[in-house]
Amino acid sequence: MNTRYWTLAKRPPPPWPDDGTFALKEAPLPSPGPGQALTRTIYVSLDPYQWGYKRRGVEPEGVPCHARTVAQVVESRIDGIVPGDFVFCTNGWAEYGLMGEGVARPSYMIPRKLDPAQGRISHAVGVLGMLGLTAYAGLVLQCEPKPGDTAVVSAASGGVGQIAGQIARLKGCRVVGIAGHEEKCRYVVEQLGFDACISRTSPTFAEELKAACPNGIDVYFENVGGPVFDTVLPLFNQGARMTICGLIAHYGDDPAEDARAVVRARAEARGVTVRNLSVGEYVAEWHDAFLAEMAPWVASGEVRYREYIREGFENIPAAFSEMLTGENFGKTLVRVAPDPTLPA
Ligand SMILES: NC(=O)c1ccc[n+]([C@@H]2O[C@H](COP(=O)([O-])OP(=O)(O)OC[C@H]3O[C@@H](n4cnc5c(N)ncnc54)[C@H](OP(=O)(O)O)[C@@H]3O)[C@@H](O)[C@H]2O)c1
Repeated sequence: MNTRYWTLAKRPPPPWPDDGTFALKEAPLPSPGPGQALTRTIYVSLDPYQWGYKRRGVEPEGVPCHARTVAQVVESRIDGIVPGDFVFCTNGWAEYGLMGEGVARPSYMIPRKLDPAQGRISHAVGVLGMLGLTAYAGLVLQCEPKPGDTAVVSAASGGVGQIAGQIARLKGCRVVGIAGHEEKCRYVVEQLGFDACISRTSPTFAEELKAACPNGIDVYFENVGGPVFDTVLPLFNQGARMTICGLIAHYGDDPAEDARAVVRARAEARGVTVRNLSVGEYVAEWHDAFLAEMAPWVASGEVRYREYIREGFENIPAAFSEMLTGENFGKTLVRVAPDPTLPA
């Protein structure tokens, strides 16, 4: 039996993938060795950093594209893992993959068994996984929000942004989102409880953002950079804190510049304390503490979480492009096999 996978077919073009960027390949299904399990992918998590990996040459051509995944175990030679178990793993853009000893993965993406009774299995690559920890680490640990602060979050309806803004609300901040269009903004205010949300594509974006932040900005959770950052910059208060979580507006820059350094220097020149965020640095120490706070918030509905789920393995590259250009609405995933935990 074979497994299909998507691979980089050529050097990634700027700014975003085109029709020939990815190629669909097939390979024989691997057999698990000692300490390994064979798993069938159910959800593939699509994240902006994956494009950064490709553009910076971290990921070579020919191998399955990297991604965090939720999968079901087919065959296991790992103690305590049996066929039928659901797991978080890193199968990438592949229908099947191995987890366990000797399987290459980023050190902090640690495979683990999932308990479907504790939440949707797809949340393991989202609000109850590294994505949620990203929001928590950037907002709570790096920006230390105080009640009454004005906190601004860009890409506010996206995977990280929606969680970061809701945490800021729960910490007592006035929360202002920035999103790509009116429908996203309405959702962010009406469903997620932000105090305001401004469309970055509005012709009066700068005036509207200023009006939504009458006391200036104390905390800024940066996901995008570019013209959005230019608009936020004059509104910072002295002593403001900013986390650079990501700068998606620059992921297609050609040549790729060190946009983080530029953004950081410009904010620091206005007296802002700036922290770079790399979630991997928080996993070992903070994952359990984060989950203890986040899981009850999600279970009680205090934190809502929107997913943007595309169906079908062949649609991964299209969904990836949608996310990079803001056509997604929520955390982007592709369901590549049926999720047996969902009601029929
Ligand atoms: N530091 C870390 O460890 C870490 C970990 C995870 C994610 N991240 C970063 O967090 C950010 C958000 O990631 P995510 O997974 O949650 O993705 P996402 O927000 O679900 O999707 C990306 C969003 O970025 C916005 N966008 C796209 N192009 C843009 C542009 N040119 N200018 C302004 N906005 C643009 C779009 O939202 P709108 O159209 O609504 O604006 C789009 O929906 C990314 O920068 C990512 O790299 C960092």
